[in-house]
Amino acid sequence: MEVLNKYNEALTVRLRSAVSKKEPKQLYEPIQYILSLGGKRIRPALTLMVCEFFGTEFKKAIPAALAVELFHNFSLMHDDIMDQAPLRRGKTSVHEKWDVNTAILSGDAMLILAYRYFEDYEPRIFQELAKLFSETALQVCEGQQFDMDFETREDVQVVEYIQMIEQKTAVLLGAAMKMGAIVADASEEDKEIMYQFGKNLGIAFQLQDDYLDVFGNPETFGKQVGGDIIANKKTFLYLIAEKKGSKAQTKELAHLFTINPVEPKGKIDTVTKIFRDSKADEASRMEIEKFSKKAYALLDKVNIPEDKKELLRKFGENLMQRDV
Ligand code: IPE
Ligand code: IPE
Ligand code: MG
Ligand code: MG
Ligand code: MG
Repeated sequence: MEVLNKYNEALTVRLRSAVSKKEPKQLYEPIQYILSLGGKRIRPALTLMVCEFFGTEFKKAIPAALAVELFHNFSLMHDDIMDQAPLRRGKTSVHEKWDVNTAILSGDAMLILAYRYFEDYEPRIFQELAKLFSETALQVCEGQQFDMDFETREDVQVVEYIQMIEQKTAVLLGAAMKMGAIVADASEEDKEIMYQFGKNLGIAFQLQDDYLDVFGNPETFGKQVGGDIIANKKTFLYLIAEKKGSKAQTKELAHLFTINPVEPKGKIDTVTKIFRDSKADEASRMEIEKFSKKAYALLDKVNIPEDKKELLRKFGENLMQRDV
């Protein structure tokens, strides 16, 4: 996304030098590795963007943005262990390239490195950022646990799924945006609107991630397509197919989501077809639209220039059309 270029340049240089220590190699190399794989960097870009939109130089928000991106990468390193994911950003995931213990400890170190960035701020801002960050990080853990619990539960409801993705993913986008507003000393009301905007966009973002996990192009997606089906994740697609599919389909779906075949291709193909036949794919697109719209509506009341609001809308639209 073009609007992000200037932010990404600033971030890339700093992320490259995020880890100054080299030894022990087994601890720091995996951190360098995952950060070098890039990713979209939407969270830190949002932090910088919001800070700038409230009239403060975006450079002031760089430490907060780096904290958010390091936290995100920590959560991915551990998430890939939990999801047994072989691929991340088109490359071997850390626990596969090294081992599980390495991914645990390098992830922990990244979380601590993330917190350290707040030390760059004066006490009042430091406190506000750290408080928001801790609250958010705990919610992410809660969401992750629900996500795991749902793998083996057969009675998950759509509202529970939405709550779960709000916690594991959306609150971090909300916090990333609010941090930009905190650094820019925006009003309480504006900070809250930015948080809500990010949260709603984040829900749409995770819905899109779940959609791509099934319908994405394996050549470009960068993660194992079908991974959520293999892991029996109770995504929106699954929950709608379970509701809207024919009797025979829902029966087959329920059965397939209790087994873990060594060769999963047949399961993935059948489930993907049921998702399409039951129009769960269309329902998912509509749900993404619903939460994106909810986010855009919040922009009416926020005190930033109209052209900046337009940029945030554009950003959201690009995000929901992405294929990575
Ligand atoms: C992946 O996030 C994890 C989710 C919350 C869906 P991103 O899609 O932002 O991952 P990168 O950082 O761009 O690789
Ligand atoms: C990840 O959700 C959310 C967090 C990392 C906290 P996913 O498990 O769907 O993320 P991907 O698809 O592996 O990136
Ligand atoms: Mg995962
Ligand atoms: Mg996961
Ligand atoms: Mg996913």
